[in-house]
Amino acid sequence: MKIRQICCIGAGFVGGPTMSVIAHECPGLKVVVVDSDLDKIKSWNSKSLDNLPVYEPGLKEIIKRTRNKNLFFSDKIEEAIINSQIIFMAVNTPTKTSGEGKGFAADLTNVVECTKKIALVAKSSKIIVEKSTLPVKTAEKIKEVLTDYNKETNFEIVSNPEFLAEGTAIENLYKSDRVLIGGENTISGKKAVDAIVSIYKKWIPENKILKTNIWSSELAKLASNAMLAQRISSINSFSALCEKTGASIQEISKAIGMDSRIGPEFLEASVGFGGSCFKKDILNLVYLARFYGLYEVADYWLNVVKINDYQIQRFTDKIESKLKNIHNKTTSILGWAFKKQTNDSRESPSIYISKRLLEKGAKLNIYDPMVPHNKIIRDIENILLESEHKKSQVNKLLKNISIFNSISDTLMESDGIIIVTNWDEFIDFDWAKFLSSTSKKPFIFDGRDVIVRDVFDNIYSLGN
Ligand code: NAD
Ligand code: UGA
Repeated sequence: MKIRQICCIGAGFVGGPTMSVIAHECPGLKVVVVDSDLDKIKSWNSKSLDNLPVYEPGLKEIIKRTRNKNLFFSDKIEEAIINSQIIFMAVNTPTKTSGEGKGFAADLTNVVECTKKIALVAKSSKIIVEKSTLPVKTAEKIKEVLTDYNKETNFEIVSNPEFLAEGTAIENLYKSDRVLIGGENTISGKKAVDAIVSIYKKWIPENKILKTNIWSSELAKLASNAMLAQRISSINSFSALCEKTGASIQEISKAIGMDSRIGPEFLEASVGFGGSCFKKDILNLVYLARFYGLYEVADYWLNVVKINDYQIQRFTDKIESKLKNIHNKTTSILGWAFKKQTNDSRESPSIYISKRLLEKGAKLNIYDPMVPHNKIIRDIENILLESEHKKSQVNKLLKNISIFNSISDTLMESDGIIIVTNWDEFIDFDWAKFLSSTSKKPFIFDGRDVIVRDVFDNIYSLGN
């Protein structure tokens, strides 16, 4: 099969950057990114590259060079499917909120919907690539849907999970530790895998392209995220112990990380991991383990999420106890994104901390350099509504929020300052100057080791 055009269904945090890099490295290939969200497509096509829906360092430069040359963003999903030989699926796979597996299993509605669409419109052979993170054995389900709706066309299913991290997506895509491609052990299955290899080969050294069976590929993605999250929960559990014993979590991380068998990455204690994937992927793993009757395995991984929830709760408890009666006190939240260098706030610890403080009557001043103001308000509104507050009550609580455009404006009149995201500008901020200029003596809660703690009195530095 000659590959002239590929498409990707899902123009989100994965689909957008991944396809941009493929288009950039494969100028002979037409790459079409489609989405049912018309506003998102409009933003991807917006004239100003500062209005792209995803902020990633280096992304806009790539889009500038490729957009409307061999990279296209469109809402014409059927047309893209018909004209493409390879179809990537990078749709969101959130945790189910109802039905069998509620609260744990991945919701595959979007994947099934796309598969159905492909089956209904495809007239020629297609390679379907699982780019979304999926439960092991999803390829079987995709195959079932395809044969239910189209028995005439030949479809090959390949698993090619994405390992990029937000904020470093472009760097990760260019210098991938590995590209994983899982396929069926048949002649046509192997050809399909090789077709995907031929794309990545353009810029990824072949020894970094790992071919496996399809189930290993699907499961390796969940396992990989679980292992990363487990390291964060492990170090966060030690942060609690440090606070009781006088040990310092930064010194512990360094000491542990210098063991070459352990390594230094992912040992930074924090308020807790956020992001759209760690929690949902571990919950999915827990569901799968239980499904196969592996209850001890399920419990082991569930504890990684429990320690994360505990860490956020522990940090918020500290804020409440230090600020005493928090009602009507002004606290500043620095950072809304779940990590630096992204405009993504999904599952950000800030959301959970803010909810609890608002419920206790606090006034919040919030600042983030990248997350739009209306997104911050929507996040808070959603979490309050989810926890069964009435709409009128939510509107009242929202009045206690002010959102600012600079750190110094945010911090004026603060009784407490809460650092949740590790943005560089929080590290670079002249804290000494600010503290000497303010008449209030705000207490600082540093959840990210941003401030040189020995210099200041009124500070709680997590893990110290
Ligand atoms: P996202 O929400 O940013 O993007 C998904 C997009 O899919 C949305 O724009 C949505 O409108 C679109 N979509 C959903 N159903 C559709 C349909 N039926 N037809 C057309 N468009 C549809 O999600 P994301 O962060 O890009 O994640 C996508 C997948 O990749 C998830 O499975 C996630 O676990 C996985 N993943 C994410 C990351 C990450 O850093 N965000 C990294 C690796 C893997
Ligand atoms: C994570 C993985 O790193 C990616 O490999 C994976 O592809 C992706 O999930 C996914 O499947 O979605 P991401 O969530 O974008 O990427 O970002 P990370 O850098 O992993 O950070 C996740 C959270 O953990 C952030 O809140 C971060 O601040 C926190 N973290 C990270 C720590 O608290 N300590 C650390 O040492 C590292």
